[in-house]
Amino acid sequence: MNAPLKGLAMQAPSYVKNARLIAWVAEMAALCKPEAIHWCDGSTEEYDRLCQLMVDAGTLKKLNPVKRPNSYLASSDPSDVARVEDRTFICSAKKEDAGPTNNWMDPAEMRATLQPLFDGCMKGRTMYVVPFSMGPLGSPIAHIGIELSDSPYVAVNMKIMTRMGKAVYDVLGDDGEFVPCVHTVGAPLAAGQKDVAWPCNKTKYIVHYPETREIWSYGSGYGGNALLGKKCFALRIASNMGRDEGWLAEHMLILGVTNPEGKKYHVAAAFPSACGKTNFAMLIPPAGFDGWKVTTIGDDIAWIKPSADGKLYAINPEAGYFGVAPGTNMQTNPNCMASLDRDVIFTNVALTDDGDVWWEGMGEAPAHAIDWQGKDWTPAIAKETGAKAAHPNARFTVAATNNPALDEAWDDPKGVAIDAFIFGGRRSTTVPLVTEARDWVEGVYMAATMGSETTAAAAGQQGVVRRDPFAMLPFAGYNMSDYFQHWLDLGKKLAASGAKLPKIYTTNWFRKGADGKFVWPGYGENMRVLKWMIDRIEGKAQGNDHVFGVSPRYEDLNWTGLNFSAEQFDTVTSIDKAAWMAELRLHTELFEQLAHHLPKELPATKAAIEQRLAA
Ligand code: GTP
Ligand code: SPV
Ligand code: MN
Repeated sequence: MNAPLKGLAMQAPSYVKNARLIAWVAEMAALCKPEAIHWCDGSTEEYDRLCQLMVDAGTLKKLNPVKRPNSYLASSDPSDVARVEDRTFICSAKKEDAGPTNNWMDPAEMRATLQPLFDGCMKGRTMYVVPFSMGPLGSPIAHIGIELSDSPYVAVNMKIMTRMGKAVYDVLGDDGEFVPCVHTVGAPLAAGQKDVAWPCNKTKYIVHYPETREIWSYGSGYGGNALLGKKCFALRIASNMGRDEGWLAEHMLILGVTNPEGKKYHVAAAFPSACGKTNFAMLIPPAGFDGWKVTTIGDDIAWIKPSADGKLYAINPEAGYFGVAPGTNMQTNPNCMASLDRDVIFTNVALTDDGDVWWEGMGEAPAHAIDWQGKDWTPAIAKETGAKAAHPNARFTVAATNNPALDEAWDDPKGVAIDAFIFGGRRSTTVPLVTEARDWVEGVYMAATMGSETTAAAAGQQGVVRRDPFAMLPFAGYNMSDYFQHWLDLGKKLAASGAKLPKIYTTNWFRKGADGKFVWPGYGENMRVLKWMIDRIEGKAQGNDHVFGVSPRYEDLNWTGLNFSAEQFDTVTSIDKAAWMAELRLHTELFEQLAHHLPKELPATKAAIEQRLAA
């Protein structure tokens, strides 16, 4: 193993043979001027040593090894707690290729802006060279990235979240392709300057150059801003690769669902950030669903490719979960709780007096804890000041292999054949529990016009309804209208091959009653909706054909084991004409914003809905 070396050791380990990579690392080292270079090998020994280094530096706390073996807690700077969408840029050569939903800057201008920021940005720090594969190593669907980062927190998180380590270089070989990802916290250290626990910079840039497939990230150490394999590569850059090569990179969980007859289906579901993907991917069917089983392939990202058999095959490019902690408990997500028993990095949750973790919605509150900002926290303080023990976007990082519901094919390079897509927003009003699209175009329309209330996953105002097409608003790496066209083209191509297209659904678990509370019980109870979908695929379930699709009537769902009245069902499924007229005006606004290259099928579908609504 390479110790973080004193003095600039440019020498790559002998197993690194890619000349382009070696030259790029040298070039970046000359620019960023780190004190040392550490070539990560991905070993457990290296992971343990880097964690210890961060414990010594005060970045990590080791949790009680009896309660939470081999686990750590990181507390970030209060200014660095979520993705920064307003600081995220798609720097395509032409502005129209980034489209109206992305921040854009001319690539030359952005390079000139970043150059002085990156010059010397790693002074006094070690530059970690992090080799990773998105997707099973060597799979024809997988792609390699190399992240250069001055954050050891990033290096250890990347080990959990991706296939990270030495073996990547065997796949890369002498002249293999990789996506270069440069990351700095933007906090160089002067000689003798003491470091802080969570270095970052108030200036932030999360930059993508789609044509040259490069990522440059400055100023943040948190989540999707810093773990560049995730949103930056696997969604923003990969969506560009997918457009060019005829595949999809999506913000989707992937699950397997087996019915009592033993028939297995695969569903990919796009819900916006912090809207239930991890929960749905790990769902445990409630009592009354004997013989049904749900298994997890992925919880956040899907890469989906059409195959010669006319089916769409999906892989999870990640190897771990960076999931939302608050709200997770033994009732809402027992599989997730079991995944978190050991080998976890928690970020921004509270530390209990016995060296364990706690967050809002985990269960009974401790009498005292240290909150995510290092302050004393008690239920009384919370009541008085509203202080949260955990940040609402507090997260855990854990290997997929910790998940007891992990699907046996999760690591299969072939992927799994998708039978249905779900698009689901967070809406307290208007949008019914579940609707089936009558055809591919109607499904693309539903996905394209999806609205959702903003969450703590991104910095900024929370709870505001915005359009979040395909749950990809912050992640589509090119013009959103061209992305819609790509989906329509794919549907046409599959249909032309004579294949049965996946069904498309839209869901909303989040309708609220007059008391402001969620009416639908959600979580495991979402199985009732999932069963209806599978039964529809099998031609076994009925529904009501309405203005924008097909939804189940009360009698079309299985209610065994749940006390949910027809009146309550009506509260979460009713379609209010006035509310939908207002909703359609928001679709019009979206289409006006996206007018350039907007596929004509979408306004045509809207016109048909408007006509049916008026009738
Ligand atoms: P990202 O990792 O940000 O992409 O999000 P995600 O979609 O994986 O979100 P996750 O599953 O972690 O959900 C986060 C929040 O949604 C938590 O506050 C959950 O309690 C809540 N949530 C998840 N499923 C349900 C549900 O079925 N009903 C309700 N009411 N809330 C839910
Ligand atoms: C999301 O915000 O959708 C996430 C978390 O999955 S992050 O990796 O920070 O983007
Ligand atoms: Mn996500």
